[in-house]
Amino acid sequence: MNDVVLVQPRNGYAILTINRPEKLNALNAEVLEALERAVRTLEADASIRCVVITGAGEKAFVAGADIAQLHEQDAHTGRLFAEFGQRVFNAIERSGKPYIAAVNGFALGGGCELAMACHMRFATENAKFGQPEINLGIIPGYGGTQRLPKLIGAPKALELILGGGMISAAEALSLGLVNAVHPQADLLAVVEALAQNLATKAPLALHACLEAVRVAADTSLLEGLHAEASIFGRVCGTADFKEGTQAFLEKRTAQFSGR
Ligand code: COA
Repeated sequence: MNDVVLVQPRNGYAILTINRPEKLNALNAEVLEALERAVRTLEADASIRCVVITGAGEKAFVAGADIAQLHEQDAHTGRLFAEFGQRVFNAIERSGKPYIAAVNGFALGGGCELAMACHMRFATENAKFGQPEINLGIIPGYGGTQRLPKLIGAPKALELILGGGMISAAEALSLGLVNAVHPQADLLAVVEALAQNLATKAPLALHACLEAVRVAADTSLLEGLHAEASIFGRVCGTADFKEGTQAFLEKRTAQFSGR
């Protein structure tokens, strides 16, 4: 049997591929469980400093939660279904390593939500984004009602969530939902170059940046500034901070150790 989530370690980063192309990489329980395991393993692996998530094949990133499994849910299990997906996506968003979504096709429902849980999103020209759950008589359950309005504002988010339509990569770019759009043939190379660059940075500083920016999304400006100063102080206590500043003063490239 094929692995439904492939993990390919590279030099300092890993590519995580949702591998169920015959169902457009739809997220069933098996995929979500494998994704959760992969995220946990990568989190514990100090040699991996950045993670790229993409979908197998040329058609889809992830076309949503698996509708056949979704159909089986009731009022009780539906809540657990949503909480499970939210837990996996929260682990990505709260990771100490940057996650980059390489959106290579349909990113619908849980696929759009997975991309939004990543810290950055890059898309192919043929990518399509949407939250079509309304067409199934339900609502987004893996964070779409919360992350989409934060990223593009409530009116535009509601246009997608209530209307259930799809938007193109170009429109997603104009809304700020994706960082950039690239031809299909170039996407992975562009994203891997970014991952490679991030993998050269001081890991504790990467972690601290992610933590501080996440506070900005969750709290008021004053509380956020308080958190920033505290995190800044913490990072000033690391060996990598001494090495980075020393290397600048000595006009050489810093050698970060992750301490
Ligand atoms: N769950 C389960 N299976 C899915 C799926 C999903 N979210 N999305 C696609 N598939 C399956 C299709 O059922 C089909 O399986 P089959 O070959 O066994 O019939 C296969 O993937 C290919 O999809 P298909 O619909 O034939 O491709 P298409 O190019 O005609 O359409 C989409 C592509 C994305 C527009 C269409 O598949 C779609 O609307 N998917 C559901 C999107 C959605 O509502 N997601 C949110 C779920 S909460």
